[in-house]
Amino acid sequence: MGRYIIKGGNKLDGKVRINGAKNSCLPIMAASVLNGSLSKIIDVPHLKDVSVMIEILQYLGATVTRTEQMLHIDTTNVKNYEVPEYLMRRMRSSIFLMGPILGRFGKVRVSYPGGCDIGPRPVDLHLKGLRQLGANIVEEHGYIEAEASQLSGAEIHLDYPSVGATENLMMAAVLAKGTTVIQNSAKEPEIVDLQNFLNGMGARIRGAGTETIRIDGVTKLTSVEHTVIPDRIVAGTFLIAGAITGGRVVVQNVIKEHLDAVIAKLREAGCKIILGEDYIILEGINPIKSIDVIRTLPYPGFPTDLQAPMMALMTVSNGITVLTETVFENRFKHVDELRRMGANIKVNGNTAVIEGVKKLNGAFVEAKDLRAGAALILAGLTAEGTTIVEGAHSIERGYEQIEKKLKDIGADIVKVDKH
Ligand code: EPZ
Repeated sequence: MGRYIIKGGNKLDGKVRINGAKNSCLPIMAASVLNGSLSKIIDVPHLKDVSVMIEILQYLGATVTRTEQMLHIDTTNVKNYEVPEYLMRRMRSSIFLMGPILGRFGKVRVSYPGGCDIGPRPVDLHLKGLRQLGANIVEEHGYIEAEASQLSGAEIHLDYPSVGATENLMMAAVLAKGTTVIQNSAKEPEIVDLQNFLNGMGARIRGAGTETIRIDGVTKLTSVEHTVIPDRIVAGTFLIAGAITGGRVVVQNVIKEHLDAVIAKLREAGCKIILGEDYIILEGINPIKSIDVIRTLPYPGFPTDLQAPMMALMTVSNGITVLTETVFENRFKHVDELRRMGANIKVNGNTAVIEGVKKLNGAFVEAKDLRAGAALILAGLTAEGTTIVEGAHSIERGYEQIEKKLKDIGADIVKVDKH
């Protein structure tokens, strides 16, 4: 298990190019099963989760070749409709393979993705929607088996705007007979990106990015070429890195509208932010101003994936912040680790009260999940002395070469693979 060793105190100063979005390319890679043809996907980051998705697609019978930031996927010969347990367990979000496999083959068998570090990760909304499309679903022995000779369009109202459920149902509805309407759908930019990819192969979808998505079923799909949108969560992480060190960071290759909530909060914290065409400049201040209230919400609210990095920033602010996590049940795994570094945080249920301290102290801490790990690296950038963040494998799931990118803009950080 690798670790990062960070010597705190350097002000970051420099430019970083943001890679394609993990939470966009994963559903898009799953959707490539639908066309039984070629998909050329551009700006795919080198991440552990992408490697797992490639393994799953190859297991199903697809051929996948990678050159630099590009993926060529040919799903002509996909005939396997079962995703084995050992692969499902390596990435919970592979549940959204159900839609495309069921949509193309009329049959799919996956194991329960199971709970993970940030909550039980139920899939009830996925299954309820698939049943409304006509699938017969059996759940037993930890497996989910779905069958449908022909899926047919339906009016689906999601009890919660679940990102994964919205994506799964969009993909399942592409080849269904008739029209499907998904109401109260998630509005994340990654949903819009998936719509554009699917329409690029001949699907007929509109409304992604709003709370109502309409899918008119088609019978024929073709090959497609698509460039993945930039990763707004990675961009936000680097902006917060600039803020926590009181430095100056330019994030390039961003869609600034995707970061409205994050920019608003960083301005509230006293940062100076200049918006360019496809870049954002952040100049931090010292000390950071405390933000009275932060609440994570579905898009376009403040993103849950930046809750931990933002909490790290607030631990060194000049006041008190009340932070509420409303999306996941158990996404405070970074709190104990930040406390080890001297942070003053009180937790009551899904609310954390953070009282800023002058300085954090370097310590040995553990990345319990992807974004918690990123938060600990950010804390290490500003802490006095050396911080060791154990569990690099968690962070590599979502951040491509984070140590190199931080080092290139002035951080004193190294990654050690074995110890
Ligand atoms: C996606 O997860 C992202 N993952 C997550 O990013 C992100 O945090 C999340 O959306 C919210 O934005 C990918 O896109 C691969 P949800 P997903 O379904 O689809 C409950 C990261 O760090 N729920 O919107 O799993 C669920 O328990 C990851 O990159 C049900 O109750 O998120 C959670 O409390 C972490 N029943 C809430 O909805 C269901 O059937 C939001 O989940 C589905 C979800």
